[in-house]
Amino acid sequence: KRVAVLISGRGSNMTALIEACKDPAYPAEIVAVISNKPDAAGLEVARSHGIEAVAVPQKDYPSRAAHEEAINAALARIAPDVICLAGYMRLMSAEFVGKWEGRMINIHPSLLPLFKGLDSHARVLESGMRVHGCTVHFVTAEMDGGPIIAQGVVPVKPGDTEDTLSARVLKVEHKLYPLALKLVAEGKVRMVNGGIVYSGLIE
Ligand code: GRF
Repeated sequence: KRVAVLISGRGSNMTALIEACKDPAYPAEIVAVISNKPDAAGLEVARSHGIEAVAVPQKDYPSRAAHEEAINAALARIAPDVICLAGYMRLMSAEFVGKWEGRMINIHPSLLPLFKGLDSHARVLESGMRVHGCTVHFVTAEMDGGPIIAQGVVPVKPGDTEDTLSARVLKVEHKLYPLALKLVAEGKVRMVNGGIVYSGLIE
């Protein structure tokens, strides 16, 4: 399966996906990386792996719609089967999301449906919860609200700070995202009528 990855920053999840795809048995291939930030560190990382990496900066476009159109044009050319959002920090219109529904997935650093949106680690610490984690889900018009594909859980330890907690979660993200993409690429997990359908045996 052809996969495009959308990023805005350092791209460590993107890198985890690139590494997973190096296994010939892995059912997907990263064919392009797109960033809305021209200075995203992940762009250079992708290029160093020989992957086409392009910036489509919103400041080059007069409106959100025009920027989305440009992203869409880049995607139309790349023709991915699956789009992975990996730290892509820009909200998408319902129209854009609708175009890719069932074929676009995202990783979010919390156990959804808890702690949608920004600053999840700080909010988990404030909440007093003793567990935290990350979620890969299909993207729908509701931010961080689409059907859940897979989750990873970590403990919240006494004395944790945002830094120590986010680092613990990130390690799990790097395992979870390749696993979830594999399930989607193999067609073992699909989005049907706004819900999740599993088929075949899932280890
Ligand atoms: C990750 O924590 C991801 O879950 C969130 O943004 C962060 C991106 O990190 N959506 P990276 O760019 O993949 O290193």
